[in-house]
Amino acid sequence: MRKWRRKYYDIFSKFYDWIIKLHSQDKSEALREFLIKKAEINSGFKVLDICTGTGSVAIKAKQMCSECKVYGLDFSKGMLEKAKAKDKRIGWILASVTNMPFKSETFDVVLCSHAFYELKGLEKFQALEEIRRILKPKGKFLMMEHEVPKNKFIKLLYYIRLASMGSADGFQFVKKELEIFAKYFKKIKKDHSPTGRSKVIIGIKE
Ligand SMILES: C[S@@+](CC[C@H](N)C(=O)[O-])C[C@H]1O[C@@H](n2cnc3c(N)ncnc32)[C@H](O)[C@@H]1O
Repeated sequence: MRKWRRKYYDIFSKFYDWIIKLHSQDKSEALREFLIKKAEINSGFKVLDICTGTGSVAIKAKQMCSECKVYGLDFSKGMLEKAKAKDKRIGWILASVTNMPFKSETFDVVLCSHAFYELKGLEKFQALEEIRRILKPKGKFLMMEHEVPKNKFIKLLYYIRLASMGSADGFQFVKKELEIFAKYFKKIKKDHSPTGRSKVIIGIKE
């Protein structure tokens, strides 16, 4: 199953940046900046962007903190090839979020932009377990996702994405995500992007 999902993302990688540009009307740059500012990264920090895709968030983090050590992780070779071609200063890692090749307590910050809901069923929980393991004490996980859209048609597309890319119970996860995060992190905060269309949930490890 995972093999086919990877293949899907490998094919998607060929159009991904183009589709994002079209869909976001160039607002995605500001959104990435917003996420990284929220992470409050500082010189010397180790930062990991999971489900990095073509690497835009990891690259933005490196641009905003050149003294940070930045990594981008994804299980699609196609996506990572696109990312590597854009920036060689980042450590690009081919792996699944359910089994990350890092020692415990390695990272100050883990980021995930518009990808967490696409993890299949149990993968979301395995990923949260792994994120907590690789974060240093007081380290932060920031998950940015779309808010539930107000427009009825867009809302329908949003639910289709949740069910098809994530899992049938994806909607339940969205409803209970703060409760779920509270099981993995000591402190939870929620914020909204300036456009109001995305949210960031921040989990801080004990
Ligand atoms: C919608 S893209 C998001 C890309 C990027 N975060 C962004 O904001 O542009 C979702 C990404 O998650 C990756 N992905 C899905 N399941 C994964 C898993 N189990 N482990 C690692 N990466 C995964 C896909 O390969 C894809 O690149």
